[in-house]
Amino acid sequence: MIASNCQAHRNRVPAVSQHQSALLDWYDQHARRLPWRYAPGQPADAYRVWLSEVMLQQTTVASVIPYFLSFTERWPTVEALALAPLEDLLEAWAGLGYYARARNLHACARTVSLDHGGQFPSDLNALRALPGVGDYTAAAIRAVAFGLPAVVVDGNIERIMSRLARIEAPLPKGKVAIRAEAARRAPDQRCGDYAQALMDLGASICLPKAPRCAACPLAFECLALRDGGPELAAQYPRKLPKKAKPTRHGAALWLSDAQGRVFIRRRSEKGLLASMLEIPSTDWCSSDQPLAAPDWLGLDWQRQDAEVRHTFTHFHLRLTLYSARLPRGGDAALQATLSQERDARWVAPELLGELGLPTLMRKIAIAAELADGPG
Ligand code: ADE
Repeated sequence: MIASNCQAHRNRVPAVSQHQSALLDWYDQHARRLPWRYAPGQPADAYRVWLSEVMLQQTTVASVIPYFLSFTERWPTVEALALAPLEDLLEAWAGLGYYARARNLHACARTVSLDHGGQFPSDLNALRALPGVGDYTAAAIRAVAFGLPAVVVDGNIERIMSRLARIEAPLPKGKVAIRAEAARRAPDQRCGDYAQALMDLGASICLPKAPRCAACPLAFECLALRDGGPELAAQYPRKLPKKAKPTRHGAALWLSDAQGRVFIRRRSEKGLLASMLEIPSTDWCSSDQPLAAPDWLGLDWQRQDAEVRHTFTHFHLRLTLYSARLPRGGDAALQATLSQERDARWVAPELLGELGLPTLMRKIAIAAELADGPG
């Protein structure tokens, strides 16, 4: 049904060249100025394009800009990034989320430096073979950094294509028809501008909930708009109902010493927030049973009236805050146990902000500070 639909409106929709020129004319007037974009005629720096694309995965342009500026100032080339210790990179990344991306960033910088002489390849398969580079990122680098033809499809572009062609198959199945529509429309000139024009259109006009169709340069060819106005356009892409995310529970363990410093350590190399600094916590369990009082180190953990909420890709997390204080002079056996924790440190709470803690840990620190606050 999708194929015949596409076939049918192929004869009705305006020519592809009209689509490309309308979009590119709009881009010439409205392109956002972004720090990773270069002026027309200037050579692109594939390192900056790649870095921005990895940072922009699942994050907004506004939140990426300060990270992009500080990364490129600190590590101006792919070789500089490859030589940075992973811990430095993870700490600079803190707050952007999805730390596996930061680890892949490092691995990719090393691969480009060691196996490609510091130059990103332009071939799609070679790009795709780099750590952390998927179909979207490979196509975006090829188009934006090298100006070569590529079918660039991210969430914004999926939305635009599904509206232009009224693609009824819900995501994720609909991705095949959406990709075919994007491929049919992709140009073989100004490939980088075209891809970024679609990104800008998705960010400023073809918005998810309230598309601004009156200002859209592609309104003349949009089947959803033609058939049902912006209200219908807003219903694309079609989606299957989302599965509810499960909730996990646990206790955050705020351990202070006699000087008021808090204990932190580094998480293991595997799993969620791998190798990031953390305020310790118990296991995160899915069970509905009431949370048992923590028994870590045999200390007298006090339950605080504070719950920290955080959402990861696949689950919600609720951590109840518990605190305990080591006695003055400490217990030598306890201190010895703690010193064996990975990268164990005692840190004054006011200095936690300088460590590049992941967002969940920053939330715990804020909750502990409030629980301990005036009164
Ligand atoms: N989102 C992903 N890549 C982008 C880019 N190059 N410009 C603007 N938004 C983007």
